[in-house]
Parts: sequence; structure tokens; C-alpha cells
Amino acid sequence: MRIPAWPIHTEREIELLRQVLNSPQWGGFNEIVSRLESEFAAFQHCAYGISAANGTLTLEAALAVLGIGPGDEVIVPAISFISTATAVSRTGALPVFVDIEPETFNMDPERAAEAITPRTKAILPVHFGGPLADMDRLGALAAEHGIPIVEDAAHAHGSEWNGRRAGSFGVAGSFSFQNSKVITAGEGGMLTSNDAGFAERARSFCNQGRRIGENYFFHYTLATNYRISALQAAVLLAQLERLPEQICLRERNERLLRSELADIPGLRFQQAHRQVNVHSHYLLLGRIDEREFGMTRDEFHRAVTAQGIPCTPFYPHPLYGNPLYRNGGCRVMSCPVAEACVRDAFWFPHRVLMGDEETTREIAAAIRRAARR
Ligand SMILES: Cc1ncc(COP(=O)(O)O)c(C=O)c1O
Repeated sequence: MRIPAWPIHTEREIELLRQVLNSPQWGGFNEIVSRLESEFAAFQHCAYGISAANGTLTLEAALAVLGIGPGDEVIVPAISFISTATAVSRTGALPVFVDIEPETFNMDPERAAEAITPRTKAILPVHFGGPLADMDRLGALAAEHGIPIVEDAAHAHGSEWNGRRAGSFGVAGSFSFQNSKVITAGEGGMLTSNDAGFAERARSFCNQGRRIGENYFFHYTLATNYRISALQAAVLLAQLERLPEQICLRERNERLLRSELADIPGLRFQQAHRQVNVHSHYLLLGRIDEREFGMTRDEFHRAVTAQGIPCTPFYPHPLYGNPLYRNGGCRVMSCPVAEACVRDAFWFPHRVLMGDEETTREIAAAIRRAARR
């Protein structure tokens, strides 16, 4: 069985790369970077896009621009990649870890509500695996308390909630273009926003405190250089052009895979809220009910890997279980769902959804064999 490869490229990446290589500007000031920013922002239903070296720095930039720092708290889900939490810690603020919903793997708005204090300065939901967190309830919560939302949309390129795309709900959306993401230049990131003031400050922050149209050697704020190169922008523009058709392919294959495996007791795939009308399918997440399934998650993971299917046995701990946070530096709410997912959840990378129908049926058959069905 051939599992589709990722990342992939076509002649289009080479063509755009050649244009950059033949130009005198390979850095972040090539117009192709602004083109990527405006096209990606428009794709995510946003007015502004600010590119940066990766999706960790975009989170750090967003929180810095919001003025978050020592004495403040930011609510984050207990399940995510480490950057969601360290971006908060690096400002000097405390990440407050809250539980996720058992079916969606996303921040539970009720648990977020319980965690709010006068120190809360932002809510940082992650759209885990692709489907958006409950933006209706999180949006209402944020509005009620006058707190901004920063969306960690590192997994959610092209994902929609009621027809509106990730990154357009909060004051900022943060995207990653790291190697495994659904569009990639190996590394890269983007902030999106519909707030002109935020976008201007973020752009200046990522570009040495400069102001657009002013003298190159005038720096107005203590800022930094997070720029991407034109070579990355060239690759990302080509990748962005193919994203819509790739989302349709993954959508079709995921539906087929799920229907082929629907009769296996105790195997439950991620559910999205009904408002999620389309999503990136970055990860195909699932949970194992050991008693119904007849195998532990670790046994299933070993069996499925032995069948040649790439699979990750979830994170080894909720974020607060990392050595970094074991001795404090955070506030931890009760997170029984996150703790259960650490024991019983897994994910397949999106490349398992990028084959033709025959390959997808073969993958489903291999998963069945692993599940001894
Ligand atoms: C949810 C989440 N947020 C942030 C990041 C950080 O992105 P990057 O690897 O581009 O720094 C990742 C990365 O993989 C992620 O999965």
C-alpha cells in the first residue's frame, strides 16, 4: 500500500521560486510577500495578513501587540501543541489550562467561563485538527467580559464556522505553515485580522518597529524581525492555489473512510459542531473505547503502524503535564477529558486522506485489519 506523500509540490512552486530567484529581492520586501499576505487574508475572510517566520512567533506577536504581560492570565485549552501555552508564558502572563469537549477536542466554553478572573486578558482557543472551536459561545463569553479572542488557527486553513473562516473571529488569527501543515513552505506563519489598528501594530512589531511609508531607519517601538523570505512566500502562494481542491479531496476521502469503519464498536472519530460547514482535515482524530473496541489505544496504535499507516498516539500529557509546567508557571483547572484523551486518543496525519478512492479503501481495510475486524 502506498501512503500519499506530504509535503508535495508542482511546477507552479518552481515557476514562482524562479521568479523570486531572478529578482534582486529574495527577502521579505519582495512584493510576492505582500501578495501572499493579501491573498491568504482574503482567503480566510480577513482584511489584513501579516506574515512571520512561524506559527509560534505569530502567537507571541499577537499577545505582545495586545500588551499582555506579567500579572495577566490567558485561557488556553489543555490539549494543544506547546506553542499555544509558551506564547503566553513568554509574555510573562500565566496560561490558564481549561478542559476540552470530549467529541470535538476543542476548548469547552463552559470550562473557559469558569476560569475567567479579573486578570484574564485574552481567550486563546485552538481549532484542533481543523474544525473550529465553538465560536458562538466563546465569542459571547469574550464579549460579555470585554476580553479579546486570539484564535490559534495553526490547523485551520480554510476551515469555516457558519460560512465564516477561521482567523476572522478574534482580534487575530494565528496560522502555521510548518512542514506538516496543509499549506507549507517548511516553516512560516501568518497573523490575520479584521482590526486595522491591531494589524498596523502587528505589522510594525514583526518589522523592527517601522511604519509603512516612512524612513527605513526610523523605529518607533521596541520590536523585532519576524519576516519570512520571498522564497517561502513563493512556495506558499502556489500551495494556497491548490488548497481548496485538496480540502475537497480530504473531505471526500474522510467521508469514505469513516463510512467504511462506521460499524467498528468503540472507534469514535472527532465530531465537529454543526456550524462547521467545511474544515481543513489537518488531522483525522479519534478515540478508542477500550471495552467496546477490545484493545487499548496503545495496542491499536502498534497494530495500525504495523500495517504501514502513519499514526500518532496523541500527546503524552495535557500541556500542563510538560516538565516546563509541572512545578507551576500556570493555573490548571480540572481537565478530566484532556486526561482521558491522553490515554485513549490518536490521530492520523492528513496525508492518509490524500490518495485516490482505491488508496483510501485500502487504508480503511488496513485499519480494519489492525482493529482485528
Ligand atoms: C496548535 C498549534 N499552534 C501553534 C503551532 C506552532 O506553529 P510553528 O510550528 O509554525 O511554530 C503549532 C505547530 O505545529 C500547532 O500545532
